[in-house]
Amino acid sequence: MSAGTTTPLLQVQDLKVNFGHVQAVKGIDFELHEGQITTLVGANGAGKSTTLLALSGLVKKTSGRVLFAGQDITALSPHKIVAGGVVQVAEGRATLTTLTVRDNLELGGYTRRDGAAARAADLERIYALFPVLKDRADGLAGNLSGGEQQMLAIGRALMARPRVLLLDEPSMGLAPIIVQDIFRTLREINKQGLTIFLVEQNVRQALKIADRAYVIETGSIVLSGTGRELLGNPKVQDAYLGS
Ligand SMILES: Nc1ncnc2c1ncn2[C@@H]1O[C@H](COP(=O)(O)OP(=O)(O)O)[C@@H](O)[C@H]1O
Ligand SMILES: [Mg+2]
Repeated sequence: MSAGTTTPLLQVQDLKVNFGHVQAVKGIDFELHEGQITTLVGANGAGKSTTLLALSGLVKKTSGRVLFAGQDITALSPHKIVAGGVVQVAEGRATLTTLTVRDNLELGGYTRRDGAAARAADLERIYALFPVLKDRADGLAGNLSGGEQQMLAIGRALMARPRVLLLDEPSMGLAPIIVQDIFRTLREINKQGLTIFLVEQNVRQALKIADRAYVIETGSIVLSGTGRELLGNPKVQDAYLGS
């Protein structure tokens, strides 16, 4: 492992998640470093979503520990985890389709206590990242394209002022050109200082933007390194990159 020697912002230790007799996650360790994009890549059914849901407190951890900013958050409720700054982008870009784009974004900030001016400033920052959301601010979220809804879901999560942004396959179901657009914006958000944990089946695109990367197969992490290292790894190329 070559990337980073600082204390991790978030550390997962020996995480196991069982669903009945199904061992979905079999004791994995990984860490997220402040200011980096970390990715967890793997095939369908490998255990990626389960890992993310366990981090967010939305599925029960069978065992293991999660440390965030020096605090043990293993047993915290989902609500407290979000309030602490670990915010997951809604899965399947579950925007509220009968509300306007602006209302969806404002809802993302509803738990904040830092005042209307700070929220308004963040709204403008999100419009700058995703100009299409500004153009469509008064329209219903349900009328957005798939790519635009993904942007809205990311924007809504950003309104919660995350310290770590968690994303579950933002590329799913989107055309390659839209995926590139979204990943470029994730890079941009990251350059502005946000730590990102990206779970993806689109291994090539995810590794391209990742500082640090882990490969998960049937519930176990089998490889790790920088994004660049794994892009150049023959095992990764054979199994995931079709080359
Ligand atoms: N709620 C659940 N109940 C039972 N098995 C589940 C549940 N969620 C996921 N699984 C199983 O756990 C494994 C990992 O699933 P998942 O984390 O969704 O994989 P991925 O997100 O990598 O596609 C799969 O075998 C899946 O069928
Ligand atoms: Mg999944």
